[in-house]
Amino acid sequence: MEKRKIIIDCDPGYDDSVAILLAGGSPAVEVLAVTTVAGNQTIEKVTNNARHVSSMAGLSVSVSMGATGPISGGQWETAGHVHGESGLDGVELSPIEVPLDTMTAVERIVDIVMTEPEGTVTLVPIGPLTNIARALEAEPRIVERVREVVLMGGAVHTGNVGPYSEFNVFTDPEAARVVFKAGWKVTMVGLDLTYQSEITPDVIADAVRLDNRAGKVLSQILMASNNSFHRNGHKGGSPVHDACAVAYVIDPTLIETVTVPVDVELKGELTRGMTVADFRRAGEEGCVTSVAMKLDQKRFWRTLIEAVRNLD
Ligand code: BDR
Ligand code: CA
Repeated sequence: MEKRKIIIDCDPGYDDSVAILLAGGSPAVEVLAVTTVAGNQTIEKVTNNARHVSSMAGLSVSVSMGATGPISGGQWETAGHVHGESGLDGVELSPIEVPLDTMTAVERIVDIVMTEPEGTVTLVPIGPLTNIARALEAEPRIVERVREVVLMGGAVHTGNVGPYSEFNVFTDPEAARVVFKAGWKVTMVGLDLTYQSEITPDVIADAVRLDNRAGKVLSQILMASNNSFHRNGHKGGSPVHDACAVAYVIDPTLIETVTVPVDVELKGELTRGMTVADFRRAGEEGCVTSVAMKLDQKRFWRTLIEAVRNLD
């Protein structure tokens, strides 16, 4: 089986870290680069975390630092109340083996997409979409060369930072609109899907039973993520949002999607950052955007545990 080549654009973060471990351990994907964007924590912190976790995931990549704020200018608020002061509070980080790239995130994304054979690279953005929008601006030809974009972000029913807005899209809605409207194939793995990936006691037990270093880190991440979720007043298990996007690339049969036009609300007083899917036009021919709706939970968790088992 030919490995799917991916670039992970992320802001680790608990669930971003699960996504990186999943990608690193999966025989189905090859991670060409990890690029970072401020979001869950500051750019310095998420880049540091990305280097730690990429090292743990055995990736042969450099980590490229990206955007510190939205394309419209200014800074954005980080999500320290969710992922902690470090962005990965409660997780013992291993030594950093992965170097910091001399290229920026945008330069690295453009460089890879323009040098790899056309139609082979999949972008997996799992943070605010700023770097991807900037890469499109820097080199518009990446639209034709990218195989597809599989992003974690958005929601068609219920948001998490507002009634309809999800964090990654809300933090840079202008960038998100650029990405959704670019004309390339976009699969939105949003909250409608990712809330089906709640961490259960059984999943934690499976992670604890893994007797490798990465398994230990995975179980720490899952427990820390659940603790934070409960501290923030939620019940049940915390979802591992970002890992769902990587899982879809690894095995698209894990997730059911609906082809539907998606746009991003930029003006609404209550709805800025909402991803608006026009279900009247679901299944329309020529539509390149789709929304993830249903997760095969059992097989998703099995895929994650087996991937992490493959790591050191
Ligand atoms: C998204 O927001 C971040 O906090 C998570 O890492 C995920 O990418 C979920 O809304
Ligand atoms: Ca993220």
